[in-house]
Amino acid sequence: TTPQVIIPTYVHLIYGKHPSENEVIAAGDAQRQIDVMNDAFDGSGFSFNLIEVKQIQNPSWWTATKDSTEEIDMKSQTRVGGPEELNIWFNAVQHPNPSNILLGHARFPEWVAGALSIDGVVCLHSTKDGGSFSPFNEGDTLVHEVGHWLGLYHTFQGGCGSGDHVDDTPAEAYPAYGCPVGRDTCPSAAGLDPITNYMDYTDDDCMNHFTSGQSERMHAMWETYRLVPSE
Ligand code: ARG
Ligand code: ZN
Ligand code: CA
Repeated sequence: TTPQVIIPTYVHLIYGKHPSENEVIAAGDAQRQIDVMNDAFDGSGFSFNLIEVKQIQNPSWWTATKDSTEEIDMKSQTRVGGPEELNIWFNAVQHPNPSNILLGHARFPEWVAGALSIDGVVCLHSTKDGGSFSPFNEGDTLVHEVGHWLGLYHTFQGGCGSGDHVDDTPAEAYPAYGCPVGRDTCPSAAGLDPITNYMDYTDDDCMNHFTSGQSERMHAMWETYRLVPSE
């Protein structure tokens, strides 16, 4: 039987302007995002329990670039809890290359040691369920990022090799976008491309599941890197 892990979750809503002047993400959106995650991870043995939502006005955190000092400050000054607690920041996350769009990014479990203060996931505010970033506005960016936070790689990691360290995700040569049903970029490997998997790059209305192999990997990674041993 799959062990059940309930993850205490903290949501940090960053604003450039005062929350009352800012229409992009409201405090009530946080619980909706937790519900989207609980549906997505249903059957995986992981669930999420929203402990606290904080609204924080800070213009330089609002537009923080991935891995910038602004982002490090944002995380280290607001992060709560140990390696087994999930911190989520919603802001207007910027890619270091301004012509690239970044929907979100995550810290892997094996990176926790020595870097707990920046552990967690960052998501672009408009990717929330009902957000403006169509076709990435059903909340699945958060699901994808939390997949990374629990130790999953992309389904296309390592191309037609076995780069994602999961047995039941068919090999895929490179990311899929949109929802290319029937795509098969590794014809000599078993199965069609896993375009409906949360760890591909398809549209939110295309991606809809994790596999049992991914669930096993997440639990193994949890026990190795995130579970605090009880004394
Ligand atoms: N590109 C981002 C990443 O690699 C997130 C992709 C999310 N995809 C989506 N359909 N919401 O972490
Ligand atoms: Zn990813
Ligand atoms: Ca979906």
